[in-house]
Amino acid sequence: MKLPHTSLEAKHLPVMIDEVVKICNPKNGGNFMDCTFGAGSYSKEFLKYQAAKIVAFDRDSQVIEIAKKLQKKFESRFTFHNKKFSDLDLVSPKNFDAVIFDLGLSSIQLDDLSRGFSFKSKDELNMVMGQTKVSAKDVLNTYSNQDLKDIIKTFGDEEDASKIAKNLVRYRSQRQINTTDEFVKIIKQSKKKNYKKKIDESTKTFQAIRIFVNQEISELIEGIIKATKVLKPGGKLIVISFHSIEDKIIKFYFKNFSKNRSRANKYLPENSNLSLFENYKNSIIKASSKEIKKNPRSRSAKLRVAVRSAEVFRDPIELRKKFKYLTDLEKRIA
Ligand SMILES: C[S@@+](CC[C@H](N)C(=O)[O-])C[C@H]1O[C@@H](n2cnc3c(N)ncnc32)[C@H](O)[C@@H]1O
Repeated sequence: MKLPHTSLEAKHLPVMIDEVVKICNPKNGGNFMDCTFGAGSYSKEFLKYQAAKIVAFDRDSQVIEIAKKLQKKFESRFTFHNKKFSDLDLVSPKNFDAVIFDLGLSSIQLDDLSRGFSFKSKDELNMVMGQTKVSAKDVLNTYSNQDLKDIIKTFGDEEDASKIAKNLVRYRSQRQINTTDEFVKIIKQSKKKNYKKKIDESTKTFQAIRIFVNQEISELIEGIIKATKVLKPGGKLIVISFHSIEDKIIKFYFKNFSKNRSRANKYLPENSNLSLFENYKNSIIKASSKEIKKNPRSRSAKLRVAVRSAEVFRDPIELRKKFKYLTDLEKRIA
C-alpha cells in the first residue's frame, strides 16, 4: 500500500542532521547541495536559514512530490533535480559552500515493501532506487553463475557467495525467481546451519544485489569527484556512508588528495602532487548514543568531511584506478 507523501516524509529519521548543520553553518547563508534529497530532511533544515540556497538531487521519482512542496514554498531558494548525483556538475553555479551525500536508502524506500529492498517483503524483486538499466529480478534470473558469485562476494563480502550463486542458478532452471521471499529462501538454504551472526543471513546478499542494480560504487566515485569540481575553495565535501566499501573509497580519496598526505603513495604516480583538499585529519564522526537509541539505523553511519583547497581541479585518476575492480564489476550490467 502506498502511503500519502506526508506520512512518507514523517517515516524517515535523518541521520546526524545536527552535525551536518554545524559543519556547514548556514546561518550566514550560502549555496548548498543536497545530493541525496530523500525525505528532504536536510534541505528543509537548511531552508530554515533565510539566506541559504539549496540545490537538491534524488534519482527516485517517488520524492518529486515532496520536493515540489519545497519549491512552491521557497521558490528560487530551492531547486530539485530528479537525476542521479553522477550528473551533479550539469548544474550551475559552481561555487558551493558544501556538498552533502547521505548514502544508502531512505525509510521511504526500505519501508515500501513493494519495492523489494527489504528481506521482510514478499513482493516482486525490484530494488530499483530509480533510473537503472535492470532490476534485481533481471539480475537474478539472467546473470551467469560466475557473475552472481562475483557480485555477491565483492559487494556483500558474503562468505557463502559461491553456494548462493549455484543455488540461484539451480532454482531458476526450474522456474523464474520472482519474489523477495523466494530469494530469501534460496539464501537461507545456502547458508551454513550454524549461522549465528547478529545480522540477518540475507543482509549481505541483499546489499550486494542492490549495489549492483543501482551501480552504487560508480555513482559514488563519480559523485564525489564531481562534487569536488563544484565546491569553492574552503567549501566542504561531506559524506555519510553506511558500509565499508563506501567508507574505504571516501577515506582513500580524502587522505590521498589532501595537502598533508604523509608519504608518496604507490597508488599515486600520476596525481601525486594533486592537493584537492586542505589538510585532512582522517577522523570519523559517529552518531551520538542518544541518536542511536532513537534511530538504530544511525549506528553504522560514518561521517567524513574534507575541505576543498584552492588548487585548480584536475581529475584524480588514481582514485578511479584504485577502485577499477569494483567499477568494472558494475559494468557487467546488461
Ligand atoms: C538515506 S536517503 C537520504 C535521506 C535524506 N538525507 C533525509 O534525511 O531525508 C538516500 C537518498 O539518496 C538517493 N540516492 C541514492 N543514490 C543516489 C544517486 N546516485 N543519485 C541520486 N540520488 C541517490 C536515494 O534515492 C535516497 O532517496
